[in-house]
Amino acid sequence: MSGFSGVALRKTFHRGSESVHALDGVDLRVSAGEVVALVGPSGSGKSTLLALLCGWESADSGTLAYAGALADRPPSTLGWPELALVPQALGLVPDLSLADNVLLPARLRGGTAAARDRTEQLLTDFGLSHLADRYPHQASLGEQQRVAVARALLLRPAVLLADEPTAHQDRGHADALLDALATQAREGSAVLIATHDEIAWSRADRVLSMRDGRLTEGAPA
Ligand SMILES: Nc1ncnc2c1ncn2[C@@H]1O[C@H](COP(=O)(O)OP(=O)(O)O)[C@@H](O)[C@H]1O
Ligand SMILES: [Mg+2]
Repeated sequence: MSGFSGVALRKTFHRGSESVHALDGVDLRVSAGEVVALVGPSGSGKSTLLALLCGWESADSGTLAYAGALADRPPSTLGWPELALVPQALGLVPDLSLADNVLLPARLRGGTAAARDRTEQLLTDFGLSHLADRYPHQASLGEQQRVAVARALLLRPAVLLADEPTAHQDRGHADALLDALATQAREGSAVLIATHDEIAWSRADRVLSMRDGRLTEGAPA
C-alpha cells in the first residue's frame, strides 16, 4: 500500500526562554486513495506537521515513512511528481504568468505537451482561463490560491499536502478545489488537507483533529 505515515513525531520551537511543543508525539497514516482533513485551532501544529511531511523541517524525533514507490527516500529528495504541496503562503513565482506557475512542475522536468493540456484543463476547472497570462500580483489572493492548487495537481503526485487550500475562496470555488482534490485521491494519491472549512471536513474520507500538538482521530468535540 502506498501513502505515508508518521510515528511519534515531535517538534519543539525555541523562542528565547520559551519552548513551544508544536508537535507533541503525533502518529498518523494517510493511505493512497483517501482524502484526510486535518483540523484544529490556529497554532495547534497543523502547518508544522505539513512542513515535516514535505521535508521543509526535520522532526526532533519520531519516524516518517513513505510507502510504495516513495519508500526509503527522505522527503527532501522527493519532487513534484511524488510530493506536491500547497503552502499556506502559496509560494507562486512572481515573474511567471499564472499559467506558467501551474506548468512549473512539468518545466522543471523538461516539460511535456500533456502537461500543457492539463494546465488548460485545470485553469478552466478553477475558473482561471481568462487570467492565464496575468502575473500573480495582478490576481486576487483567491485566484492565486487556485493557481497553487492547480500547480500541485499538475503531475498527479503520489502525495498531496494542502495547507488551508480553501481559505480564500467563496463556496463555489472551494467546492471546485475540493472536487479536484477528491478526484486526485480516487486516482491514487494520498491527500492531506489542513483546513478550517467545515464543508472540507464533512467531505473528507477521515478527519484528524490537532490540539496543542497532539493528534486524535475524528472531528473535534
Ligand atoms: N519557525 C517557528 N519558530 C517558532 N515557533 C513556531 C515556528 N513555526 C511554528 N511555531 C509555533 O508552533 C505552534 C504551531 O504552529 P503551526 O504549526 O503554524 O500551527 P497551525 O498551522 O495549526 O496554525 C505555534 O505556537 C507557532 O507559533
Ligand atoms: Mg497553519
